[in-house]
Amino acid sequence: MSVIKKFRITKIKNSKPLISLNKISLSFKKNHLILDNLSLNISKGQIIGLLGPNGAGKSSLMNLITGSIKPNFGSIIINNEDITQYPIYARTKKFKISFVPQIGGFFSDLTAEDNLKAIAEILLPDPKKRKLKIEELITKFELDAVRKVEAKFLSGGMKRRLVISMSLLGDPEILLMDEPLAALDPQTIQMLQSIIIKLQSEYNLTILITDHQARDLLVVCDKAVILSNSKIVAEGTPNQLIQNENATKHYFGANFKFK
Ligand SMILES: Nc1ncnc2c1ncn2[C@@H]1O[C@H](COP(=O)(O)OP(=O)(O)OP(=O)(O)O)[C@@H](O)[C@H]1O
Ligand SMILES: [Mg+2]
Repeated sequence: MSVIKKFRITKIKNSKPLISLNKISLSFKKNHLILDNLSLNISKGQIIGLLGPNGAGKSSLMNLITGSIKPNFGSIIINNEDITQYPIYARTKKFKISFVPQIGGFFSDLTAEDNLKAIAEILLPDPKKRKLKIEELITKFELDAVRKVEAKFLSGGMKRRLVISMSLLGDPEILLMDEPLAALDPQTIQMLQSIIIKLQSEYNLTILITDHQARDLLVVCDKAVILSNSKIVAEGTPNQLIQNENATKHYFGANFKFK
C-alpha cells in the first residue's frame, strides 16, 4: 500500500467540475427508482471511487455517462456542455470517454492481439502509431504470452487485463472502470493500481471507478462516494469515508478495516 501511496497527488484542485450529474432520476420500471435526484461533481484529474451494495445503481450511473441509457429526469454536463441527449458516439468522441464494462468488452473469437487491433483500427488511423500503441499496451499489461490466444480461452484475470488495455488505446481523457479489479490476483491488482495512478499523474486523466474490492479501490481514490437506496449516502476522501457512520451502515459493515 505504501508503494502505491507515494504516487498519490496529495492536493486535489477544487476546480470547476469536468463532469456533473445534476438531479438525476432513473427508473427502469414504474415505481422503482434506481437513482433518486442524485447529484455528483467530478473535477478534472480526480479519481473517484463509486461504492455501494449489489444493485445500488453503480453500473447504471456509468451507463448514464456513456449514454447507453438516458435519465428520466436531470442532466449530465461535461465541460460546461449539456450532453444528456447526445448519442454515445458523439459524447465519447468529443470528450474522449473510454469505458471498461463490468462484463465482456472484448470479441471472444479474436485473439488478444486482434482485439487490440480491431479497436485500434478505429481509433488510430496512422498504422505506425497504431502498432506502437498496441505493443506498448501488450507490454504494460503483460499480454505478450497470450497475444495469439483467442480471448474466450483467456483466464478471467487476463480477460480483464485485455479489456483494460483496450480501453486505453485511444488515450482517453475520461475513463470509466466498472469493477476492473474483480477476479484479479493480488500482484495484478497492484500493477493495475500503479497504472491507474500513473494515468492520473502523467496524463491528468479523470477516472470514475467502481469495485467491491473496497480496500484496493480506496487506495487509488482521491474521493469516494457510497451509493445506497437510490442516493449518495456518504462521500469524502477515503479516510473520511471509513470514519463515516453512514458508510459503515450502508456498505462497509462494522468489521471493515482499511489497513
Ligand atoms: N437495462 C436495465 N433494465 C432493467 N433493469 C435494469 C437495467 N439495468 C439495471 N437494471 C436494474 O437496476 C438496478 C441497478 O443495477 P446496476 O447494475 O446499476 O447495479 P450495480 O450497483 O452496478 O450492482 P453490482 O454491484 O451488482 O454490479 C438493478 O436492480 C438492476 O436489475
Ligand atoms: Mg455493476
